[in-house]
Amino acid sequence: MLSIASIFLSVLLAGASPARRATCSPQILGTNISITNGPLEAGFSLTGSTLVSQPISETIPEFAVAASNSPGEFTLLKVTNEELALTNAGALPAMLPVPSPDSRMQNWAVECSGCVHEGGLIGEGCTIVSQFDGRCLNISLSTTTPVGSPVTLGNCAAIGSSINIYIA
Ligand SMILES: *[C@@H]1O[C@H](CO)[C@@H](O)[C@H](O)[C@H]1NC(C)=O
Ligand SMILES: *[C@@H]1O[C@H](CO)[C@@H](O)[C@H](O)[C@H]1NC(C)=O
Repeated sequence: MLSIASIFLSVLLAGASPARRATCSPQILGTNISITNGPLEAGFSLTGSTLVSQPISETIPEFAVAASNSPGEFTLLKVTNEELALTNAGALPAMLPVPSPDSRMQNWAVECSGCVHEGGLIGEGCTIVSQFDGRCLNISLSTTTPVGSPVTLGNCAAIGSSINIYIA
């Protein structure tokens, strides 16, 4: 009896632990998406391979979601040129040719606090986590980083679950 009670208690405690946050994986495989934060989304710089913030256009997708070589992880291809994928290229993420020297550089996990499907919205409160180094995609809304600022990779806890994902 005691052991059953203690198992039950530990399950309860695990469920109540603040470090444990319920997440879900949005059903995005094979779809074309926009990766947004508030009024901005991740777009492409006109010159070079980096990403910049741009005003949201929910009906015009930027990324085609493909399977990666690891289950549950995705490769995020450029909709208009599927030879290029979102790549953890160091300081800044970049759209670089597939495959990358280390496949983890182009593997991303997408975890959301809500997996809805309302209009185009399919993932709410998400993080997009690089499987190379565990950093997260950061579309800054700060007033010091206006539209057109670089989309960066940073500490996931500091960035928070700020990303909403739309299927076009
Ligand atoms: C995604 O976009 C590409 C390029 O416009 C298009 O060829 C493809 O059919 C789209 N896929 C879906 C699932 O809408
Ligand atoms: C997110 O990006 C902005 C602008 O590029 C930067 O100022 C900010 O420090 C970044 N946040 C994190 C947590 O990396």
